Amino acid sequence: MQTRKLGYSDLHLTTVGLGTWAIGGEWQWGWGPQDDAESIAAIQRALDLGINWIDTAPAYGVGHSEEIVGRAIAGRREQVIIATKCSLVWDEGSTTTYARLKAESVRREAEDSLRRLNVDVIDLYQIHWPRPDEDVEEAWGAIADMIGEGKIRYAGASNFSVAQLKRVQAIHPVASLQPPYSMLRRDVEELLPYCTANDIGVVAYSPMQAGLLTGKFNKERVASLPDGDWRKQNPFFREPQISANLALVEKLRPIAERNGRPLAQLAIAWVLRRPEVTAAIVGARRPFQIEETAPAGDWTLSQEDIAEIDALLEERDKALA
Ligand SMILES: NC(=O)c1ccc[n+]([C@@H]2O[C@H](COP(=O)([O-])OP(=O)(O)OC[C@H]3O[C@@H](n4cnc5c(N)ncnc54)[C@H](OP(=O)(O)O)[C@@H]3O)[C@@H](O)[C@H]2O)c1
Repeated sequence: MQTRKLGYSDLHLTTVGLGTWAIGGEWQWGWGPQDDAESIAAIQRALDLGINWIDTAPAYGVGHSEEIVGRAIAGRREQVIIATKCSLVWDEGSTTTYARLKAESVRREAEDSLRRLNVDVIDLYQIHWPRPDEDVEEAWGAIADMIGEGKIRYAGASNFSVAQLKRVQAIHPVASLQPPYSMLRRDVEELLPYCTANDIGVVAYSPMQAGLLTGKFNKERVASLPDGDWRKQNPFFREPQISANLALVEKLRPIAERNGRPLAQLAIAWVLRRPEVTAAIVGARRPFQIEETAPAGDWTLSQEDIAEIDALLEERDKALA
């Protein structure tokens, strides 16, 4: 699979990275029941397919996702770039997280992540959410210190505005921004030129809009999502949006079909059409899912396909206006 260099760093990421939110299992923002053996098989399959990096976070399953990643990569550390995060913490025995960016908290989080992942160094350490805003500089300073100590290689920002990126850049270089980006969520396009101008890589999350753009959803499946699946309450999966989103998916289907590709790959390749995007973080909770999506990393969409998709997205926006 092709790779792209992450901003100013020396990390060369495959254009598809594996996202491990759903494998965290059941917690405040869980995706319903998840089988650990399947999670480990999915991660190992991703590495077998040539994917060279994994995005996780302590929050995903209050530590569980990191532990599963640690188990899955045991003996294969050299093959994988590990990206994890800080800022969402929880109290012992709770599955509800809250925001904390004080230096001692960030330090403790990093130590816990190193232990759960069972690694000596975290390749990319990202502030998950810039909250509380007034502590962002303090957290970034702590991350810079840990880079100096060799515990972290690069610092990244997730869900940051340009103003917040500028504030932390004054302290230590930003290797990457991790924003949401999909056909249904395009606001980050405004930030992309800034990232390129400042040598900041972009790793785009939820490129299939949490599975909605895989073509495997219909109204029945949305209605039968289990109670513990956060998508049940998410506006993309509810009216008035869900009808317009599912209608869009049906119009995208022929574009994927005439290219001989699954719909999920179309959603990912569309995100990767932007040269400012280093990689898409593609979530998978079962091996077959990443088998189906990984080849998107090498698919360059034609200008005709891109123009047709743009027109369909405009049509959907008008339907919702
Ligand atoms: N920084 C942040 O704030 C933030 C926020 C969100 C995500 N992220 C990162 O980005 C990653 C990716 O985003 P995401 O997981 O939200 O969404 P996504 O990649 O758009 O969608 C992933 C989900 O789609 C479904 N899926 C995947 N492949 C499929 C296939 N081949 N066929 C059918 N369904 C398939 C699976 O859910 P089902 O099988 O249950 O449908 C899977 O969990 C996360 O795992 C996380 O690492 C970061």
